[in-house]
Amino acid sequence: MLIDGFGRKINYIRVSVTERCNFRCQYCMPEKPFSWIPKENLLSFEELFLFLKIGIDKGVNKIRITGGEPLLRTDLDKFIKMINDYRAGIDISITTNGYLLKGVAQKLKDAGLKRVNISLDSLKSEIAQKIAQKDVLKNVLEGIEKALKVGFKVKINSVPLKGFNDDEIIDLLEYSKNRDIQIRFIEYMENTHADKNIKGLYGKEIVDKIREKYEVKKIGREGSSPAFLYELEDGYRFGIIDPHKHDFCENCNRIRLTAEGSIIPCLYFDEAMSIAEAVKKGDTKATAEILIEVLKNKPEKNRWNESLVKQELSNRAFYQTGG
Ligand code: 5AD
Ligand code: SF4
Repeated sequence: MLIDGFGRKINYIRVSVTERCNFRCQYCMPEKPFSWIPKENLLSFEELFLFLKIGIDKGVNKIRITGGEPLLRTDLDKFIKMINDYRAGIDISITTNGYLLKGVAQKLKDAGLKRVNISLDSLKSEIAQKIAQKDVLKNVLEGIEKALKVGFKVKINSVPLKGFNDDEIIDLLEYSKNRDIQIRFIEYMENTHADKNIKGLYGKEIVDKIREKYEVKKIGREGSSPAFLYELEDGYRFGIIDPHKHDFCENCNRIRLTAEGSIIPCLYFDEAMSIAEAVKKGDTKATAEILIEVLKNKPEKNRWNESLVKQELSNRAFYQTGG
């Protein structure tokens, strides 16, 4: 079992397979990064898998594939199959912007993918285009329908932004409710890569908007999920992810691996250690030692609030860590 320095059991790895993305969301990557990681620095699927196997052997049973946009990486289904063949029953999921999903959903399902989280920030095509800086809505909606059709468990992620989509919270909720999909509204997390003019809504402001139309009951957190769940009168549940109120860190069960091999103990924490050299040599023992070291140093809490007070913005790029 993997246990960190605060006694938390780590059973969940989020692995980013590329930092590249076909969108330029204003809260994430408004312009192309100054330079992409050169392709040769990306770990191969075999190298990423060497790390995942260590985790699986030590009790990891949840793996989420992220990006950038993970569907930009060719043969992703083969990577999923490698994991699934090694240990059937692992909860393998993906976080995607949905743009390319329609064409590959069935292949990913056949490879063993179980769950898909899709970002949907607006149901108005011009607003979706303004946020992602590309005309994306049609493809994303088709991706969602296809994901449901092939039988994935689907969740929607949505980041409410002032002056963009803050008048669509009910519409996004109802879109999801009508399809019996859980939607999670995520507080915008300030970072140096985002457009300077972007302002998010706090969890409370989001729930207040929903309360204008619905009775909303607080439910609570589900296990180690960062989402706080709320329920409407008809039993439909939605989530709020509110890192500015960091009370989910106590139950944190996850670590992240970037596409070039840095293990990141906390999304908002600049410390990280690289396993690139060790996995490139095929050195399982050295890789496992680095993992143990990172777990020892996993912080107790994220630093969102602390940094806001100090007016320091996180330099960590969401397109590298996969959110
Ligand atoms: N704040 C909040 N959420 C973000 N995401 C990306 N950047 C940010 C940010 N700055 C979300 C995306 C996606 C998930 C991977 O992370 O909307 O749903
Ligand atoms: Fe791409 Fe996701 Fe970042 Fe948007 S939020 S630019 S879809 S990685």
